[in-house]
Amino acid sequence: QRLLPIVPALTSLFTGREDILSWLEEHFIYGSFSLKFNLQQQFVLYELGGAGKTQIIAIINKESIEQFLVQVAHNAHLAEGTSVAALVWVCHQTEWLMIFDNADSPDLDLWKSFPVCSHGNIFITSQNKACIKYAPENFYRVGEMSNEESFSVLLKASHRFHLSEAEYAAARELVQELGHLALAIVQAGGYLNHHQHVKFCQYLESYKQDKPRYLRKIRAYNMDSYTLSVFSSWNLSYQKLDRKAKQVLILCSILHYSKMPIGILKRAWNTLAQSHELDVWEVKEALKLFIDDNGKWNDNSLEEALGNLQFYSLVEITGEGVAFLNIHPLVHVWSYKLLSTEKQKNAQMCAQQLFYPIQKEEMTCHDAVQ
Ligand SMILES: Nc1ncnc2c1ncn2[C@@H]1O[C@H](COP(=O)(O)OP(=O)(O)OP(=O)(O)O)[C@@H](O)[C@H]1O
Ligand SMILES: [Mg+2]
Repeated sequence: QRLLPIVPALTSLFTGREDILSWLEEHFIYGSFSLKFNLQQQFVLYELGGAGKTQIIAIINKESIEQFLVQVAHNAHLAEGTSVAALVWVCHQTEWLMIFDNADSPDLDLWKSFPVCSHGNIFITSQNKACIKYAPENFYRVGEMSNEESFSVLLKASHRFHLSEAEYAAARELVQELGHLALAIVQAGGYLNHHQHVKFCQYLESYKQDKPRYLRKIRAYNMDSYTLSVFSSWNLSYQKLDRKAKQVLILCSILHYSKMPIGILKRAWNTLAQSHELDVWEVKEALKLFIDDNGKWNDNSLEEALGNLQFYSLVEITGEGVAFLNIHPLVHVWSYKLLSTEKQKNAQMCAQQLFYPIQKEEMTCHDAVQ
């Protein structure tokens, strides 16, 4: 604690994350971290808001500090291999760990905040994937919790352990519906803890009927210091998006949340730009944001918008050769709910019109075959 006087509080519900913790243990304790003077080390954890980055930092501090100090004592060949001996010894050294938790703003330039020396260790958590530039070889995407971890957190948070078969099945389904997002699970669990008469089955049914109602609720039953609701955590990011990024998010909200081929946007523009049919007006208006002054599709413009969304881990791009856009299923629900009823209708028209070129090509092929 003398080394790390300000540490985030660890939730009593902390569960799982073995993969990330063992990766960190390897790097921090047994690997490059251990007394490697002459080389400053950086580590980055990134993911969507509410995924559990800060909590991972918290458990590292709580559980590993002792282990770390004992290792320091051994590595430094101290007569007494204890954490106390290590602490005394460390006081005479210049080795340190600096944590930048929630370093989310894309405007942050952390380089300026790094001590100018050739040793020490820096740990960063951020929603911004671009932060991996600080540690191009030592970064980790936190990802969703596993099915088992999510289920276990839900039971802990709701204080329900002896479940009937039906309740067990409903709880299993609920964690899936919550997209294995730590914050969403703890929020649902907190509600169920305070309403012990509400069964998992009931909660699941109501949740499925109106997800936004549950996800936007301020955490009146929060079990730790994270007080934002799932939606309000992302609303903070939304306010910082530019117009083009918001437009991409709108398109994502009405297409499937996983594996949307990014290339269809360009393909749609190239075909529909020539079309003067009135029934593609909505999609043309949407795609116009990504063209240059000559009316030609501008890949860079779309890249910028995607980069903007990645600052907050709102989208993920996968695939080699063909790039696909993926969003978390709850981000999908949220982004649709951000729109007014009129904009939702407009967005649905856009989605249908996006596929006109593909349908037309298929019909032409079909005619040719016939
Ligand atoms: N491993 C876990 N076990 C149980 N609950 C967890 C775990 N990780 C996160 N949570 C719950 O989710 C909440 C949000 O987690 P955390 O603050 O770590 O998110 P974050 O990724 O740092 O989000 P942000 O980007 O908004 O800072 C925590 O307050 C806690 O209630
Ligand atoms: Mg955080």
